[in-house]
Amino acid sequence: MTEPTRDELLRWDREHFWHPFTQMAEYEPLVIERADGCTLYDLDGNAYLDGVSSLWCNVHGHRHPKLDAALREQLDRAAHTTALGASNPAAVKLARRLALLMPAGLNHVFFSDSGATAVEVALKMAFQYWRQRAEPKPEKTCYVAFADAYHGDTLGAVSVGGVERFHAMFRPLLFETLRLPAPSVRNLAAGIAAETACEHYLNEAEVLLEREHQRIAAWVIEPLVQCAAGMVMHPAGYLAGLRELTRRYGVLLIADEVAVGFGRTGTMFACEQEGVSPDLICLGKGLTGGYLPLAATGATDEIFGAFLGPYESSRQFYHGHTYCGNPLGAAVASASLDLFAEGRVLELLPAKIDRLAMHLARLQEHPHVGSVRQCGMVGAVDLVNDRAAGEPYPWAERRGKQVCDVARRHGVLLRPLGDTVVVMPPLAISPEEIDQIMGAIEQGIEVATDER
Ligand SMILES: Cc1ncc(COP(=O)(O)O)c(C=O)c1O
Repeated sequence: MTEPTRDELLRWDREHFWHPFTQMAEYEPLVIERADGCTLYDLDGNAYLDGVSSLWCNVHGHRHPKLDAALREQLDRAAHTTALGASNPAAVKLARRLALLMPAGLNHVFFSDSGATAVEVALKMAFQYWRQRAEPKPEKTCYVAFADAYHGDTLGAVSVGGVERFHAMFRPLLFETLRLPAPSVRNLAAGIAAETACEHYLNEAEVLLEREHQRIAAWVIEPLVQCAAGMVMHPAGYLAGLRELTRRYGVLLIADEVAVGFGRTGTMFACEQEGVSPDLICLGKGLTGGYLPLAATGATDEIFGAFLGPYESSRQFYHGHTYCGNPLGAAVASASLDLFAEGRVLELLPAKIDRLAMHLARLQEHPHVGSVRQCGMVGAVDLVNDRAAGEPYPWAERRGKQVCDVARRHGVLLRPLGDTVVVMPPLAISPEEIDQIMGAIEQGIEVATDER
């Protein structure tokens, strides 16, 4: 087959490549041909800063020499061998490193291939754990999650998800999940002071746990920030408080760090900021520096132990994926962790976080910006029709997308969440590149909210 022309690529993209979360009837192909550092290049050579780190996963920039070398080196050994009853050095080394790095007590790593599968694994592990532990509790079969939660698009993950627009249609296919409002200062009911938000939401959690704990297997939380919900941020102390409550009521805590793990919030894991060790942790996206589809679910000794026994006891974890522990992914993930260890990635973040904060504070003044939020390297800007009344734009006007379309013309690639403009660049972004991203967003807001 000869190499397709530029025009063929654009046409075939529309005709044959069915894109996720994309209305294909209106899709305008954007084909990224190569990338370098924090910049992406399309087929025509146009350059774009990767303002949302290729959907919240790129960490050290694209084509990092050390990550590329680790991948090539592994390629000279084996691209893939099975993890079902067998192993490979790259995955063994990564499992060991993760066990040392993850919050205390999480000593066992189950590999899979996406954030959603890391969550599926955690949900099923929790379920099977309660049936097999020394004192079984088979009545623990349901989960708790938040309104607007997002944990991926496989059916288990959708069952604990709560984004109406994405998930409502699939409800007949889903298992039961108990749901509480997202613990966000922004959504507080009238009469409840922001300073008491944490206490208020923890009280709600306790009322639910007191009533239902006997049938709850696990509580699933995106620690600190519910990303797909529109970068909804939890009040300080909530995560630690929920850890305490779930322990007290005998409910497992699953921390979904797929989006917030690997430095996004300023620390390696978001859980660290509140000194929390969950029972299960889900990792994906940035695990490989954003290079390959590898994910991991970390579990405690207590959970792992419940799956041990003679073969005839059928206690093993009945779950697996062909590409579990893929050596290419594992090799590049270890190289990414090397960069964290040697490259001062986290140490360099505070200056970048401050730079982002400075720009967000400026945007906050714009008459069509309702609010801005930030947690580490995650930033969000909410567009509103009327700031004083807190009135949103009609959603079909897609003002967030309009901002991103303008930003793209200014050389910045973004993807909004409705009318929330999201900034989540690779951790390797420079302060000057942050200026450029935020400048493009500002231009976008000017154009997209101009009523003339
Ligand atoms: C918190 C969280 N969990 C899970 C997922 C699903 O990850 P994946 O898209 O790799 O399946 C996402 C994706 O955005 C996420 O933000």
